[in-house]
Parts: sequence; structure tokens; C-alpha cells
Amino acid sequence: MAYNLLKGKRGIIFGALDENSIAWKTAEQVHAEGGSFVLTNAPIAMRMGQINELANKTNSEIIPADATNLEDLENLISKSMEILGGKLDFVLHSIGMSVNVRKGKAYTDQNYSFTHEGWDVSAGSFHKVMQVIYQKDAMNEWGSIVALTYMAAQRVFPDYNDMADNKSYLESIARSFGYHYGIAKKVRVNTISQSPTMTTAGSGVKGFNEFINYSEEMSPLGNASALACADYCISLFSDLTKYVTMQNLFHDGGFSNTGVTQSVIEKFSD
Ligand SMILES: NC(=O)c1ccc[n+]([C@@H]2O[C@H](COP(=O)([O-])OP(=O)(O)OC[C@H]3O[C@@H](n4cnc5c(N)ncnc54)[C@H](O)[C@@H]3O)[C@@H](O)[C@H]2O)c1
Repeated sequence: MAYNLLKGKRGIIFGALDENSIAWKTAEQVHAEGGSFVLTNAPIAMRMGQINELANKTNSEIIPADATNLEDLENLISKSMEILGGKLDFVLHSIGMSVNVRKGKAYTDQNYSFTHEGWDVSAGSFHKVMQVIYQKDAMNEWGSIVALTYMAAQRVFPDYNDMADNKSYLESIARSFGYHYGIAKKVRVNTISQSPTMTTAGSGVKGFNEFINYSEEMSPLGNASALACADYCISLFSDLTKYVTMQNLFHDGGFSNTGVTQSVIEKFSD
């Protein structure tokens, strides 16, 4: 059901790779709620071509940009304002990748050029995106910027590897930039800490299938789906959450505050 919550709002959505992507679902929901946007992803991710399908469905244009590259970002932000006919009201940063994880390097045996690259993609890019938008004064007052994160920033999930450190950094950027952007322009900045979700990025983590089942059993409401996460993003982009900023918001069916559930306890009975 749609409520026209984003009628007249304009934005940029980073990170829709395929129909499982959280950004893909968010783009579909934003469209249903009356928002208009530009889709963007790394040029290399576009080769798969699936994003064209999403662009057609949502009546949106695509501008390729490597989110670690300032020139690409400057071009993206300027062109987006031209295409959309004004400043932005919302931005979704839905980007993450660890080269150490991809190459099977253990946390205790990192290759630091991989570490640096993964940090730049997963955390540094969030600062870069916001700095370019800030310096171009490309955001309307009361606009909303959201990035996606995971609870490994607070607690250890060993196979999450250096992505845990990247997510801590990402969450810290949201707080720090949220302060400056709030003071300067009344723009809000938050991170959503999402349940494990079956996507390309998610399933790259070792033992992900077992982990997603564990998380399901440890969450009173069960794991939150990508679609539910998209709906949460809509609420944060809407005018109904104008005073929420500098927060890390858990969207995880209660996992983060649960010590144990009855169904997990029962697995240990004799
Ligand atoms: N899937 C999960 O379990 C889960 C849980 C919590 C948080 N998240 C976070 O959600 C976000 C979206 O991931 P997803 O699960 O939808 O997976 P996904 O693989 O569909 O999306 C990740 C996106 O990052 C993009 N990307 C990678 N390098 C880039 C670059 N240099 N420039 C621009 N884009 C680049 C990819 O092309 C892809 O579209 C990530 O931040 C991820 O860490 C995922």
C-alpha cells in the first residue's frame, strides 16, 4: 500500500545491483510513494545490465559513478540536479565490499591494500558522497541521508572480518557529518543496521546460510527482509521523521536486544 509519503521529493539511490539488493527494493518503494530519483552504481556493476530494468520500471535515469571517485561523484550530483530539476531531498548509500573477504583472507592475515580498498568503498565513500553534496549545496533543508550497516560494528561476528571495522567507521561518519549537516542545513543523517539479508553482498560472507538461520531464530520478529528495510528507508526519507538524526537504527526484528530465545535454548536440551 502506498501513502504518497515522498510526493515531490527527489533523490539519489546508490547500490541497486539486482532485484535482491536492498537499494533495488528501496527504489521500487520510493517510486510507489511518489518520489523521483537517479540510480547510480559502479561502472563495473552496470555491465550486468540489470539496473536498466529497474530504471525502466521506475521511470528513472542511471548515472554510473564509482563512489570512491570524487570526479565521478561531482558529475553525478550536478547531473542529478539537472535531471531531477532541483536540489535533493534524500540519498541512499547502499554500498559495501571487503576485498579481504572476497579473497578469503582471514582477519588476522589481512592484506592492507585490500583493507584500504574495502574501507574506501564501504565507509570512506559515505563521507565523500556527503562532502560533495555539502560543498555543492545540493541538498534541500530537512533532507535525509541514509546508509546501511550491520551490527558487527558493535559485536563480534568473526566471519564478517574487516567489514566490521568498516561499518564502525561508517556509523561514526553518520554521527559526525550528521552534526555538521544538521547545524548548517537541517539535513539529517542516519544509518540503518539491517538483519542479515540474502543479497550478493550478504551471501559473500562465509557461512552466511547458517548465520541467517541462526539470526532468524534469535530474533523475536524474525529477520527483517530487504523489502521491510526499504519501507524503513521510506519512513526516514519522509517528513514523518524530521527530528531523527545522527542515529544508528536497528532494523533487525529485535536481534540486537535479545540474549537468547526459547527455540535456541531448546537446541541445547539433552
Ligand atoms: N545483505 C546483508 O546481509 C546486509 C545486512 C546489513 C547491511 N547490509 C548492507 O547493505 C548495503 C547493500 O548491500 P546489499 O546487501 O543490498 O548487497 P548488494 O550486493 O546488492 O549491494 C552492494 C552494492 O554496492 C555496490 N558497490 C560496490 N563497490 C562500489 C563502488 N566502488 N561504487 C559504487 N557502488 C559500489 C555494488 O555494485 C552493489 O550494488 C551494504 O552496505 C551492506 O553492507 C547488508
